[in-house]
Amino acid sequence: MPPGQSSYNPFKSSIYLLQNVKKPSVPRREARVQVTHSMPPEKIEIFKSMEDWAKKNLLVHLKPVENCWQPQDFLPDAASDGFEEQVRELRARAREIPDDYFVSLVGSMITEEALPTYQTMLNTMDGLRDETAASLTPWAIWIRAWTAEENRHGDLLNKYLYLSGRVDMKRIEKTIQYLIGAGMDLGTENSPYLLFIYTSFQERATSISHGNTSRLAKAHGDMKLAQICGTIASDEKRHEAAYTKIMDKLFEIDPDGAVLALANMMRKRITMPAHLMYDGCDDNIFSYYSAVVQRLGIYTAKDYSDILEFLVGRWKVENLTELSAEGRRAQDYVCRLIPKIRRLEERAGERAEEALTIPFSWIYDRQVKL
Ligand SMILES: [Fe+2]
Ligand SMILES: [Fe+2]
Repeated sequence: MPPGQSSYNPFKSSIYLLQNVKKPSVPRREARVQVTHSMPPEKIEIFKSMEDWAKKNLLVHLKPVENCWQPQDFLPDAASDGFEEQVRELRARAREIPDDYFVSLVGSMITEEALPTYQTMLNTMDGLRDETAASLTPWAIWIRAWTAEENRHGDLLNKYLYLSGRVDMKRIEKTIQYLIGAGMDLGTENSPYLLFIYTSFQERATSISHGNTSRLAKAHGDMKLAQICGTIASDEKRHEAAYTKIMDKLFEIDPDGAVLALANMMRKRITMPAHLMYDGCDDNIFSYYSAVVQRLGIYTAKDYSDILEFLVGRWKVENLTELSAEGRRAQDYVCRLIPKIRRLEERAGERAEEALTIPFSWIYDRQVKL
């Protein structure tokens, strides 16, 4: 989920539209800056040497499938006699929820549905990737099982939104197809150091945004939808715990490498995974969606700074010692960044202008305030 508002849009500069849309094999939106394999071979070895640690400390954050919730637990049962009645109730509750909420929920669902891109991304990582699609290294086991857990999120939201009758499924499906075709460019350079900074940040961000989506559903009187979003939020929280724990370990065994990675990702800004989103008609759909999410308080610029502050505290970045000169510069940069982005965030708030209203294809071109 993105930090919205144009003053806070790290994505615009990193993408461009391809001029020739007649070439169907080329993504409509394409990443521009792509650095690959920046991690030296001795660092790749670190991840090999962490495999025993990962077996004991990482895989415990996966839930056994038998204990996991499934989308069907939260949806009308199509094989039961009560199905039609349950669908009618679901739709009656959905009618009480405003359009802007649906724009936000659709954006979340589309982001979750681009899961093939995220699994691909994990498998580009030097020292981690699943070499056979059935590899038994703990990293590969994690990648597959994490993907399998995440797969339920898009599935549940997709089915809910379909049944709600409030959204234009065909336009949404088209957006998903464009997005998976476009991929994403996070600037992680095949380096697990950069990746785990990103995933720590991103899982916390999605936990916050699904949590706020749940809170708002409750405010609109839909307890079942609140439960759906809250359940997804708690999965994201568990993933956050796993990824931040990997970074804890990297800060312990290689504080220099870890703090350089943190500074590197913060300089690039954490780009949200659906930043190459396109719905087939509006080139700015992602920024518009981000603005709605920000206005509703589902994911805001303040959340972005809060997450950074939390992670910097969690990894005790200020107290790191025995850093190289470059490491100390990175430490200094990260610690100074928090008050700096807090000030930017306040100024952006003061500058907030009269919001535009635009039509969203996902809800049959009904107008929504940004
Ligand atoms: Fe998710
Ligand atoms: Fe997650």
